[in-house]
Amino acid sequence: MTAPVPSLVTVRHLKKTYRRGSERIEVLQGVDLDIPKGEFLALMGPSGSGKTTLLNLLGGLDAPSDGSIDVGGEQIDKLSSSALARWRAAHVGFVFQLYNLLPVLSAQRNVELPLLLTRLSRTERRRRAALALSVVGLAERARHYPRQLSGGQEQRVGIARAIVTDPTLLLCDEPTGDLDRKSGDEILALLKALNQEHGKTIVMVTHDPHAAACASRVVYLEKGLLMSEEVPA
Ligand SMILES: Nc1ncnc2c1ncn2[C@@H]1O[C@H](COP(=O)(O)OP(=O)(O)OP(=O)(O)O)[C@@H](O)[C@H]1O
Ligand SMILES: [Mg+2]
Repeated sequence: MTAPVPSLVTVRHLKKTYRRGSERIEVLQGVDLDIPKGEFLALMGPSGSGKTTLLNLLGGLDAPSDGSIDVGGEQIDKLSSSALARWRAAHVGFVFQLYNLLPVLSAQRNVELPLLLTRLSRTERRRRAALALSVVGLAERARHYPRQLSGGQEQRVGIARAIVTDPTLLLCDEPTGDLDRKSGDEILALLKALNQEHGKTIVMVTHDPHAAACASRVVYLEKGLLMSEEVPA
């Protein structure tokens, strides 16, 4: 008998309500979720169902209205905002649909950015950024600026930036949403390799069933709740 894989992420009764003037928008209405270490989880659901909201809560970019989030033994909803910022810098890598690279910095410097929050020396920062760029297959493009790269290459720089701190959790919000099928497939293959060969735990929001099929599990967010879970055959 194999021992069950312990949960890396435990979410209980998670609620998030936004207020716009006198209007209350109850986006998450009691979400429960367990993510084992080493899982590649896809999060799907209609537009406006709260996928980005949930991802941002998992990564400590926003605070829940109610409920708890434990990541690797740290109950992040209990942290002060400065402690949460430190936790996030050490444990979470974000990948965005539109890459969010700084146009005035080279690929190498973009990837180095998260390391500026650490105590690493400049030499060590450069070494780690170069390593992350080689993991995503872009070692030769280190000196290129974002405008000199294709969308797929920009996203690979975005992924290098997300993994350069060796985070516990990689959170991707529609990482292939702005790419054609071929470049999207290359990004999905890269995420799969990061999961299978480097053991990264990944949560990926996607609208695309083809992208979701790369994950080891798919969950659906609908009407504020995780409605169903499916294990692909
Ligand atoms: N900062 C905010 N203030 C007020 N309302 C917000 C805020 N952020 C999100 N919302 C609202 O919360 C709901 C969920 O938004 P969210 O961005 O999480 O959806 P989503 O599932 O990621 O949608 P999409 O697939 O279009 O990206 C929406 O109705 C949105 O308008
Ligand atoms: Mg979204």
